[in-house]
Amino acid sequence: MAEIKKIGIITSGGDCGGLNAVILGATRVAQFSGIECCLIPNGYAGLYNLKNIELDNFDWIRSDKILSGVAGSEAGHSRVKISKIKDPNKYNQIKEGLAKHNIDGLVIAGGDDTGSVVVDLINNGIKCIHVPKTMDLDLQTYSVGGDSTINRIATFTRDLRTTGLTHNRALVIEVFGRYAGHTAFRGGVGADADCVLIPEIPVDYEVVYEHFKKTYMTRLKNSDVKGSTYIIVAAEGIKNKEGQYFTDTDRGSDSFGHQRLQGGGSYVRSQLESYMHKDPDWHAFLQEMGIFIPDIYMYPEIREIALGHLVRAGDTSAYDVAFGKQAGAAAVHLLKKDICGVTVVGVEHDYITYIPTAEAIIQRFVNLDEISLYEGMGICFGRPVEEYQPKFKKQEGMIHRYM
Ligand code: F6P
Repeated sequence: MAEIKKIGIITSGGDCGGLNAVILGATRVAQFSGIECCLIPNGYAGLYNLKNIELDNFDWIRSDKILSGVAGSEAGHSRVKISKIKDPNKYNQIKEGLAKHNIDGLVIAGGDDTGSVVVDLINNGIKCIHVPKTMDLDLQTYSVGGDSTINRIATFTRDLRTTGLTHNRALVIEVFGRYAGHTAFRGGVGADADCVLIPEIPVDYEVVYEHFKKTYMTRLKNSDVKGSTYIIVAAEGIKNKEGQYFTDTDRGSDSFGHQRLQGGGSYVRSQLESYMHKDPDWHAFLQEMGIFIPDIYMYPEIREIALGHLVRAGDTSAYDVAFGKQAGAAAVHLLKKDICGVTVVGVEHDYITYIPTAEAIIQRFVNLDEISLYEGMGICFGRPVEEYQPKFKKQEGMIHRYM
């Protein structure tokens, strides 16, 4: 087993909370064991160009400047799929770059796309460990960034509720998450949203409209100050009636073939408006409530707000800082033991747990069996309510699970 004397750290894909904690966890543990560290700038773009750049040693003093509670990555990111680089000598060029800097192994933090490149690098003889990172939470393992994003979705949604209530508006809050609804689901539930729309459930707009109408009217009727609102958290990955994603095709796609998703929130708004404008109950109701003004205020307003990159920027939750440090440190221990091509699952006492990266990156979606539990609390998920029918089992031993 060749001794590891120097590691390179790469962060890649979409940024999010906890990446700096991964960097800090990995560098500190390496430095403690006398292993040198360097940050490879800008993800796989930096890895490919390593041969042509100079790198500073990322020592204790330099790593002391890292604020692990701040999102984004000190190392910088790019979305580059190495196998798509046209250069036939690309893997040799990477190996020459690693040799130039005496780097023996790589710690690579990223999501499924990044992980697929980890598998590719391993197959081409480059030693690396994958640290799970994605705000989409769609890997088989917990991924750093998920908790921070859920908290941010919940915080922004709660904040927006006051403006919704003040203006008697219904709000559709569109959030990142790509093809999975994990963060919209947990963030929406965490913010007391009235309705949560996720890619895993094709939306029945008539159901959403009826829920909106009933909730909005009940709130208004029971308000001493005649205030109401209705809050929808919609994942960007919901599809239209034809089953297509809302994508801004003008911007093309990244090297992994993903187009930027955008516009789901506005579609939800337009669907609700079209039901509302055909519904004769509103005029009489708003008249009764003393809000109706002919031609000016005949229906409640519905507005959409896309939170965009705000859900993965800013503050990192303490959970993600702790998990990020743990996972970064675990990756170095795995490299020292010459265990490569795996994804860190976590640390349980004196065990570091891991699974093959090829398995870790299999996409995980929201399990629909759980949705009806929340429907039983009155939250609409864009489908007719289903009764929650739990099975029961006694838990043997301890279980640690994060969603
Ligand atoms: O995969 C993380 C993610 O934030 C997705 O939820 C979102 O669709 C995408 O990245 C946006 O990517 P970019 O920042 O490259 O536009």
